[in-house]
Amino acid sequence: MVSNKGQWIVPRAEGYSTNKKLRNKIISGIENVMFNPYVPGNAEFKPLETEFASAIGMNHAIAVQSATAGLILSLRACNVGLGDEVITVGNSDISTTAAISIVGATIVLVDILENDYTIDVEKVESAITERTKVIIPVDLYGHPSDCIALRRIADDRGLMIVEDAALAIGAKYDNHHVGYYADLTTVSLAAAKPLSSSGNAGMVFTNNYELAEKVSLFRGYGREFDDNRNPPLSYEHVVEGFNLPMDPLQAVIVRSKLPYLEEWTEKRRMIASKYCDALCNKDVKLPSFSDYANPSFSSYVILITNRDELNVEMRKRGIETGTHYVPAMHKQEVYKSHLIGRSNLPVTERIADQLLALPIHPEMSKKQIDFVLTALKELL
Ligand SMILES: Cc1ncc(COP(=O)(O)O)c(C=O)c1O
Repeated sequence: MVSNKGQWIVPRAEGYSTNKKLRNKIISGIENVMFNPYVPGNAEFKPLETEFASAIGMNHAIAVQSATAGLILSLRACNVGLGDEVITVGNSDISTTAAISIVGATIVLVDILENDYTIDVEKVESAITERTKVIIPVDLYGHPSDCIALRRIADDRGLMIVEDAALAIGAKYDNHHVGYYADLTTVSLAAAKPLSSSGNAGMVFTNNYELAEKVSLFRGYGREFDDNRNPPLSYEHVVEGFNLPMDPLQAVIVRSKLPYLEEWTEKRRMIASKYCDALCNKDVKLPSFSDYANPSFSSYVILITNRDELNVEMRKRGIETGTHYVPAMHKQEVYKSHLIGRSNLPVTERIADQLLALPIHPEMSKKQIDFVLTALKELL
């Protein structure tokens, strides 16, 4: 059941109303890109990259077409290729594992923690072989992975960390934004994500100048653009690259939203704490976090044995709950035969069977929050 306008009463995300509030800023940015003869088409890149890096306290940000593109470019920048192994988790979007396959490497899956569903660092240690090159922790639902512990392992074993923070912009560990302990980190700015564009967009960030240069090179056909993103005069390619920069019109939209990152993340945290208070005595498992973690809650997720039933009932009431990601990667038909570690992922499997994501976004009104809480009280 949905409202009489044919929309969810409480949707998972409400990008259009944020866009409406920022309308003037977005329209004037778009006009500038499209109709100002003195502004090159890619002009939004540089300021967005600079402002983004500064907002999250990192040295370099590289604007890319999507988080998927960011992961592929990051793995290429880390020189990952045929014969290398990359360790990651099975509770992610297919982009994480597909990026590994696309660069020719082998996917090695390890299980996740019971409390926050991020990579189990102890399991990582035993999955490392002489072929391992990179670890990809996934900060699913805006829950930061334990990259402090992973950094120690990576340094001891000569590995690199490419953090998949696609859903975790605004999340922090140890008072640093996600990405601080990784070599390269990618966030998604796709529609419906926090800081959403209206299509696809992503950002890669790092404190390492050489890696930033490499990602940038692979992003732009392997040609060396100058600081203003003017192409070189010749078609000389330093490496075999891709064409995966962020669309400048999407960059306008993301740039107009970036100043609200902290405020909107706090709003998500406030809604998460309301869910937590309302559900702590119910027969559901809530996520819990280590001291180092300050999640951004791109989703608020609960575990419940009759998940599918609750999902249907909530949706009938006009509340857009969701299951993601189901099935887990190792259960996907496309990965039937070639995943290392697939037989030992009990926590990942339970999560896929029991996890339900509740609506949470900064545009959620008090009335909408109360509507969800009332539905949960009645149904649980
Ligand atoms: C964990 C994770 N990684 C990567 C991606 C890919 O992001 P994009 O859609 O920007 O390519 C997603 C998308 O939702 C995701 O959830």
